Amino acid sequence: MHHTTPPSPSSPSSQSSSQLSRQSPQSPLSPPSDLVGRLRAAGCVFAEDEAQLLCQTASGPAELRAMTARRVAGHPLEHVLGWAEFAGLRIAVDPGVFVPRRRTESLVRCAAACAPDEGTPVLVDLCCGTGAVGVALLAALGGRGELHAADLDPAAVRCARRNLAPAGGHVYEGDLFAALPGSLRGRIDVLTANVPYVPTADIPLLPPEARDHEPRPALDGGPDGLSLLRRVAADAAAWLAPGGALLTETSSHQAQPAAGLLSAAGLQVTVTTDPDLNATTLTAHRPEETGPAPRWDGHVDR
Ligand SMILES: C[S@@+](CC[C@H](N)C(=O)[O-])C[C@H]1O[C@@H](n2cnc3c(N)ncnc32)[C@H](O)[C@@H]1O
Repeated sequence: MHHTTPPSPSSPSSQSSSQLSRQSPQSPLSPPSDLVGRLRAAGCVFAEDEAQLLCQTASGPAELRAMTARRVAGHPLEHVLGWAEFAGLRIAVDPGVFVPRRRTESLVRCAAACAPDEGTPVLVDLCCGTGAVGVALLAALGGRGELHAADLDPAAVRCARRNLAPAGGHVYEGDLFAALPGSLRGRIDVLTANVPYVPTADIPLLPPEARDHEPRPALDGGPDGLSLLRRVAADAAAWLAPGGALLTETSSHQAQPAAGLLSAAGLQVTVTTDPDLNATTLTAHRPEETGPAPRWDGHVDR
């Protein structure tokens, strides 16, 4: 297993303002003279880029003033703009919904590599947030796939419905697998689950943009950060098709215990690190066996 340093502080806006600017339409608004200075004084590292994005996105001076006020007050840039760039796509991001992180593009790449070469793979994105992972995965497969997504948070479900609608995807509300239609059981070819994985005690250490503006259930992974993954692992084999794969993101220092609990659930695990994105992705395949899906007794070797 390879290890990388822990992910950079999990701050939505610090990741992408220069990337976002590449996708924005031209706008007639020119920046007020004090805009860059106000953003810089508020701690925005990429103040020029952000000023440009705000001007490109605002529909007029009044909206620009309102957006600037929210950004200066510390709201994540993506919540202020209402969108984020992810894997080259523009993803709608509603206030209060987890902002997709650039490092998660690594999970999408690993997931695309797991899809069967032919046919219409069944793709499921659990803990979908905005739905960015599923939408990007389907795009990476050239639109070939039947896409389903689910989240516990009604705000995330509403946002994901907007993002998945053009792709003909389905979004369900509920707790992990309980949200899914039973007809998907044993049929999922690629299951992505970017579950919350920050240990509860580390939540206060997150940057304020994440800590104060993203919902706690989107971040908090329980005492060791693995509570949600443990629950996903327990049921994954029963929902995956034989040979299907579960993909999840973790921090580098959680990779070993996370891989251990997926292995204990009867899955064959590989760990992929992407130093450029500071990302660690676990890929866990259900073996191509003919018998019933393996069951997990909940025991994890440490
Ligand atoms: C880290 S965010 C990931 C969002 C999205 N997949 C992404 O990568 O941008 C985790 C998401 O899991 C959702 N969540 C937390 N607990 C859940 C549960 N028990 N069942 C379903 N979704 C849950 C949160 O609402 C949040 O949207």
